Amino acid sequence: MQLSATFFRSVYLAVTLSSVVSAAPFSGSVKLRSLQTRAVSSGLTVESFHPESSFETFGVDGVDRPLSKRADFDIQDATVSFIESKTGFKADSVNFRTSFSGDVTQHAYVRQQISGIPVANAVANIAFNANKKVVSFGHSFVKAPSAKTIPKTEPTISAQDAIAKAESALAGKYNSHPTTLEWVAKKDGSLALAHVVQVQNDEQHEWFEAFVDAHTGDVIQLTDFVAKASYRVLPISKQTLLEGFETLNDPANLNASPKGWNFNGTTATNDTSGNNAFAYKFSDSGTTKQSSSGQNFIFTQDPTADPTTDSNVAAAVTNAFYIVNSVHDIAYLYGFTEAAYNFQNDNFGKGGAGGDAVRASIQNMQGLDNAWFATPPDGQPGQMAMFLWNDAHTGPERDGALENDVPVHENTHGISNRLTGGGTGRCLQTDESAGMGEGWSDAMAEWTEQKDAEVRDYVIGPYVTNNPAGIRSHPYSTNATTNPLRYSTVASRTEVHDIGEVWANMLHNVYAALVGKLGFDANAHTDASGSGGNTVWLHLFIDSFSIQPCNPTFTDARDAWIQADANRYHGQHNCTLWNAFASRGLGVDAKNYTDDSTVPAGC
Ligand SMILES: *[C@@H]1O[C@H](CO)[C@@H](O)[C@H](O)[C@H]1NC(C)=O
Ligand SMILES: *[C@@H]1O[C@H](CO)[C@@H](O)[C@H](O)[C@H]1NC(C)=O
Ligand SMILES: *[C@@H]1O[C@H](CO)[C@@H](O)[C@H](O)[C@H]1NC(C)=O
Ligand SMILES: *[C@@H]1O[C@H](CO)[C@@H](O)[C@H](O)[C@H]1NC(C)=O
Ligand SMILES: *[C@@H]1O[C@H](CO)[C@@H](O)[C@H](O)[C@H]1NC(C)=O
Ligand SMILES: [Zn+2]
Repeated sequence: MQLSATFFRSVYLAVTLSSVVSAAPFSGSVKLRSLQTRAVSSGLTVESFHPESSFETFGVDGVDRPLSKRADFDIQDATVSFIESKTGFKADSVNFRTSFSGDVTQHAYVRQQISGIPVANAVANIAFNANKKVVSFGHSFVKAPSAKTIPKTEPTISAQDAIAKAESALAGKYNSHPTTLEWVAKKDGSLALAHVVQVQNDEQHEWFEAFVDAHTGDVIQLTDFVAKASYRVLPISKQTLLEGFETLNDPANLNASPKGWNFNGTTATNDTSGNNAFAYKFSDSGTTKQSSSGQNFIFTQDPTADPTTDSNVAAAVTNAFYIVNSVHDIAYLYGFTEAAYNFQNDNFGKGGAGGDAVRASIQNMQGLDNAWFATPPDGQPGQMAMFLWNDAHTGPERDGALENDVPVHENTHGISNRLTGGGTGRCLQTDESAGMGEGWSDAMAEWTEQKDAEVRDYVIGPYVTNNPAGIRSHPYSTNATTNPLRYSTVASRTEVHDIGEVWANMLHNVYAALVGKLGFDANAHTDASGSGGNTVWLHLFIDSFSIQPCNPTFTDARDAWIQADANRYHGQHNCTLWNAFASRGLGVDAKNYTDDSTVPAGC
């Protein structure tokens, strides 16, 4: 099988920007950590509540749990008994939802339940090491209101009526995903019974999980499955594009995609559809067919021609197919597997829910100068949309699918949203955690484009914007003049990409420290067993998602990296990690968006 991918490597140019960061009071902090406000297309504003998670990590050895004397380990019993001993919540208030085994840890995800009905936004996650000791525990369980004030568990409003209410309130269409009945814990301590209804509005790029009060019919809470990019474009410059076309033969990694990329579960495919990705322009029939028999996809992109010419569309769709599959394979090798809620049609009996290859819509004409990714729960396809870019007025518009960091950024939203919280897509919803979601996506894009042990500053989006400064306020850099962002910067930021820049730059600093100390594995894209800094970084990046609590804060996410290192590397790199985080204000005593540069004794 041969598959050629035509793609550009983004142009790298570091620039120096001014470094004025204003200090701000904490006024935004509670909002950042537990609320999410969404103004939806119909003009409705919904303030969703996410109880803050408490999160503890237990180092290399972990801590004991009540049933550890028993010979056999049952993850369900172990989880429920640990929660009871740790929090006092009894077994009947724990609804076990899902678990999986990674190569170094086992993870379980539960919900609180009250009167036998699960509470959507009160969840817990736990991890066990190889010795079945607990290594991390996060939960956002809430105090159950008194029995008298709990609403009736029998809905007043039918699911059908709730669907109609959601469609009209959100100006969208119900997508036929089965509805469920769940509690929503509210900010004032009360509970509301809700029908959970998925509604989409393709033109507005919206895909919500709406919680419709089953007694009043009001939309009281939303999960927003879509991570939108809203890019800041800097003044036009006259940078030339460096083109990097390559023909790759058999690029699929058979450890990650055992039947290759052009296989749909039952048969070999001859177009840009397969077990991990379905890339198309417009519609299901808009996949790109092979250029010659034997699964060859050789299309030459002409940058002087309009992107919508047939061969340019074919090149863009091919590149998107290549990128989504590549991200699938890389992430798979580092632990984003079927059991860990990844995106595949056929899961080959290895756990998790199938039927959810990423659908990538290329030259989607519902927007310009942007891109987005929607992450519904495991078992429903992830949806990526790539737009054309006209902001830079570059003559022919530029195609987001031909700047690799754009689809890698988008695809990584699927990874962070699936792994955090165990496959629900519900656990990066607060402004702070959604902001880190943007940061993880930039950081993964950077990881794929760093080429050797010399860690360069990184700029995302220079080609689509035709601007060497790209789409963020500063290049990612260890140099505090080039990039001055610190933990305290978060207090003055509310837009998710602005928050994400702070986190992505911390991860850049972690990356630089690890590569500086451990060197660089040239084959880290295809082999996760190396000991180079880039390999270690991606292991911790992937591992930490499953450890961190639902709607994590910066300090939770940092602790999850430290614990991931304890789990996988016996804490070998803890000082390297602490020093890198502390260099940007996220030291041991950092809290409430106040910087701290302390590292543990001995570091
Ligand atoms: C795979 O492709 C074959 C041939 O086009 C088709 O009949 C079948 O429905 C496809 N299966 C899936 C799961 O898409
Ligand atoms: C793909 O092409 C091969 C060889 O040309 C053919 O045997 C096979 O049926 C084709 N598959 C589909 C799904 O059309
Ligand atoms: C950091 O960047 C500034 C501005 O580009 C430069 O003057 C300075 O030498 C850099 N510092 C280091 C340590 O490279
Ligand atoms: C942290 O790293 C230091 C230096 O490598 C090491 O001495 C120490 O044992 C580690 N601590 C933990 C808790 O892993
Ligand atoms: C964090 O800030 C909030 C609000 O500004 C304040 O109520 C709280 O006491 C602070 N917590 C700590 C531990 O400083
Ligand atoms: Zn994004």
